[in-house]
Amino acid sequence: MQQLISVIGSKGGTGKTSISHMLCHGLGLLGRHSISILTDVDRDPLSRSGRHYVTLDGRSPEKLEKILEKLNSIPDWLGVIDGGGSRPDFDRYLYELGGLALLPFRDSHEDMRTVRRDLERFPNAFGIPSQWPTNSWQQMAAERTLDEVMQSYRPRLFDPVYAVSASKLLLQAEVPSNLPGILNNVSRGLAKQVLDRLSLPYSPDSD
Ligand SMILES: Nc1ncnc2c1ncn2[C@@H]1O[C@H](COP(=O)(O)OP(=O)(O)O)[C@@H](O)[C@H]1O
Ligand SMILES: [Mg+2]
Repeated sequence: MQQLISVIGSKGGTGKTSISHMLCHGLGLLGRHSISILTDVDRDPLSRSGRHYVTLDGRSPEKLEKILEKLNSIPDWLGVIDGGGSRPDFDRYLYELGGLALLPFRDSHEDMRTVRRDLERFPNAFGIPSQWPTNSWQQMAAERTLDEVMQSYRPRLFDPVYAVSASKLLLQAEVPSNLPGILNNVSRGLAKQVLDRLSLPYSPDSD
């Protein structure tokens, strides 16, 4: 399914849930319809209220199948799956199912070593630096770590998604109507990269 994006990876806490919601939020700001699909059995479903995107509960195989059928019938919509983590077989299923697989990782040797293994297992997936430092000294240090640990994978990395504390607002049951500009900008930047990668258009001026 070309219109399906899977946010996966072996490690917890890398930013899968946040990135999947920021991506949907950004897609909405760029005028694209999307569905955020929950598959993590440890998370509760989030209300649709206040969002630029639809949220659906795909935690059981039957529900997930229904959502995918629905998505197939609306080809101009995108689906973004929050993989949940620590489920290698399910990650492989999502990797094979989707048109694009994203593997978030943070600025740590441990995350980078894990994502390297995932990039080997999933040769068409992309790594995405997550919760990336915004302070310039920390950024320089993070770049050095990338050079040390991830150099040969550079062509398979997206631009970083910066640390934005307001990203938590998208993970609340209900989203406030006025979200900070910084969250919108980072989410839009992420969505543009994904749409470019999928060769899909967007309306740059919509807000
Ligand atoms: N871009 C970001 N900026 C700030 N905090 C973030 C960002 N992405 C994730 N976080 C925080 O990091 C923690 C783990 O993120 P989460 O998306 O739940 O990871 P995962 O789903 O991979 O376990 C959460 O507390 C979340 O709010
Ligand atoms: Mg999660």
